Amino acid sequence: MRIVRTIAEVRAAVGDAKAADRSVGLVPTMGAFHEGHLSLMRAAREQTDLVVVSLFVNPTQFAPNEDLSTYPRDEARDAALAAAEGVDILFAPEPAEIYPDGFATTIHVAGITEVLDGASRGPHHFDGVATVVTKLFGIVRPDVALFGQKDAQQVLVVRRVVRDLDLDVRIVACPIVRESDGLALSSRNVYLDREARSQAGALNRALDAGEAAHQAGREIVPAALAVLAEAGIEPEYLELRDAETLEPVARADRDALLLVAARVGAARLIDNHLLTGIPA
Ligand code: PAJ
Repeated sequence: MRIVRTIAEVRAAVGDAKAADRSVGLVPTMGAFHEGHLSLMRAAREQTDLVVVSLFVNPTQFAPNEDLSTYPRDEARDAALAAAEGVDILFAPEPAEIYPDGFATTIHVAGITEVLDGASRGPHHFDGVATVVTKLFGIVRPDVALFGQKDAQQVLVVRRVVRDLDLDVRIVACPIVRESDGLALSSRNVYLDREARSQAGALNRALDAGEAAHQAGREIVPAALAVLAEAGIEPEYLELRDAETLEPVARADRDALLLVAARVGAARLIDNHLLTGIPA
């Protein structure tokens, strides 16, 4: 595996692969790798010939009050894990390589970025994500880019950018990887102390309860909220929304996402379940 820091080096490596008719896969990340990230790398390794992983803690998607300065970073560990997954290129640029002086463009997706995490974290968040991902697509020119369903709203935002700007890349969403108690893996789980860590399992249990209520034809959101309340967790949001438009829905008679965000101890955690439409 090669670690490269410049756009020119990535372009040269990808250009060689494309000239040899090899397909290119991209896994965008902010590092602090866990099994969720590694599952994306594995899927990329299976589906494409040249696997590029980007490691860039993107400053523009953090609000001033968020955890940019404390975000976990360990490039040497990440590089070893990526190499063990058979990644070909780890692209780990400095911020100035991505945002040189005079950088002035923002990709803004209207509508779906204004709710849920867009409302909680502010409009800069998905602007930052959409802009950096579009830039990574321009740098790497991947045939396939892989994202985790853990960040379901992010997947929808990226898909919308690709569709609206006619970008020639296939977006693959991979399943959420979880701990044994159901907690979705996240780089931010390292912020959880023992008490918060045991509390955090309630997020997935709440989504399970919502899903069970859906199966039984009962109201979904109250069932989920009850589990959170019992665990002493007050969510930033817990909502049922159409899986494609993110419009609020009362029932999951079409595919719907049950999404939750909550502060647990020192961490802000998100999770979601896809509820497939069943006749009531
Ligand atoms: P990051 O949080 O590092 O996540 C990188 C990728 O890993 C995302 O696609 C995310 O959905 C996926 N992922 C995280 N936890 C997962 C889990 N438990 N199971 C499966 N996949 C999981 O998301 C970002 O970085 C950034 O916003 C980025 C897209 C890189 C843009 O800066």
